[in-house]
Amino acid sequence: MPWRRARRKVERPVDVSRSIEESLEEAAEGEEEEDLVELAELDGATIAEAATGEPDPDREPSDLAIKLQNALDAPHREPPRRGLESEAPHRGRLPQSAASVRETTRVKAAAPSESAHAAALPETGVDLEVEAARGLRLKNPVLTASGTFGQGVEYAELIDVSRLGAIVNKGTTPAARPGNPQYRIAETPSGILNSIGLENPGATEVARKYAKAWADLGVSVIVNVAGYSVDDYVYVVHELEGTPAVVAYELNISCPNVKGGMLFGCDPGLAAEVTRAVKAETDLPVIVKLTPNAPDVVAVARACEEAGADGLTAINTVLGMRIDTKRRRPILGTGSGGLSGPAIRPIAVHITYQVAQAVAIPIIGAGGVTNTDDALEFLMAGASAVQVGTATFADPLAPIKVIEGLAAYVGGHGLASIRDVIGVALPPTPEPDD
Ligand SMILES: Cc1cc2nc3c(=O)[nH]c(=O)nc-3n(C[C@H](O)[C@H](O)[C@H](O)COP(=O)(O)O)c2cc1C
Repeated sequence: MPWRRARRKVERPVDVSRSIEESLEEAAEGEEEEDLVELAELDGATIAEAATGEPDPDREPSDLAIKLQNALDAPHREPPRRGLESEAPHRGRLPQSAASVRETTRVKAAAPSESAHAAALPETGVDLEVEAARGLRLKNPVLTASGTFGQGVEYAELIDVSRLGAIVNKGTTPAARPGNPQYRIAETPSGILNSIGLENPGATEVARKYAKAWADLGVSVIVNVAGYSVDDYVYVVHELEGTPAVVAYELNISCPNVKGGMLFGCDPGLAAEVTRAVKAETDLPVIVKLTPNAPDVVAVARACEEAGADGLTAINTVLGMRIDTKRRRPILGTGSGGLSGPAIRPIAVHITYQVAQAVAIPIIGAGGVTNTDDALEFLMAGASAVQVGTATFADPLAPIKVIEGLAAYVGGHGLASIRDVIGVALPPTPEPDD
């Protein structure tokens, strides 16, 4: 409902020859017309648009509409690629099949208008390709984090979403959820606390509403799956199967398990159970998102790998709280919430570093990535890709700037590819005993 100005009082002459109903109807008609004029003034719409709620095909498009149309028409967009068959996870080197992917990309990029546009991009010609999860090869290692980028389409008005390695959509549950009571966001030093509460339209509606938009945007989509039982996770994946742009699933296991009230992600057994069930439902790569609130996050990571996970995201938000000292109450409607932003980056890098030494599957780093150097920290700690989350609230261009920065780093350091920095800060792997 748009903001409404207080109604102007209009004196209407009383016609005693008419019934009360007739007079009221006439007055209501007059008010309807005024309403339409007010709405049109407020929204910059024509009267016809205000009346029907539909865009007027003859009207000149607004500046924003022109920008959005240009973004949607951008010629260099590549159709999203599904993961390609690859056996080994990699730290540093891509398996052989990567060469054929690059070959295909080159052939695709050969159309004159495409190559003209792509040539203008700072990342063009720089090898930023990574395997973000087993079987999920992305053109660059920069993703957006779930819950901080809507469904992607909202940001298409501001940035060229197709330049991203992939987007991760808002946590999707089987049924629609209205989310938590207010307040849901509180600022903290170098971060924010949130308790959004998985507000989303439900799996069926997400698939119905965004399938075409995602395909049109030309970006790979990783669906963030949430639930309160193993069946919930399986249901969401079932509903999203076959959606063209969807290339993988990321399981948000930071939800309480209804039976025991324990977070799925806190218990290696529960985390493995949900991973196994989802793996049985889909052929797409399954990435499990680790919670830093687990007593032993490395044990959870190992359990997920053993259960068949194709990758891990490290990390989700860190539990935290702020108190409103005037009201003497917690600020967030739910009391506690999830801390994100630069404040949690050292925790996230530490967990990435520990998990990278414990598992062989690729890791996607998340937590406070704001610029290129932050992304490099994660990559050097063993992550194969990064997600940019909270930073996009302050600067929607942040993920694009990180892509450009990584391209400049590869070029500036004479590297063959960004993969050459993955895991370089990890301790040397001990030689196996002879
Ligand atoms: C407002 C908000 C909503 C979020 N919603 C989700 C979600 O639905 N599912 C999920 O797995 N993570 C969610 N997250 C966590 C982020 O995806 C990310 O893991 C975390 O914020 C750390 O990254 P950052 O510091 O770059 O934001 C949310 C974070 C924020 C700030």
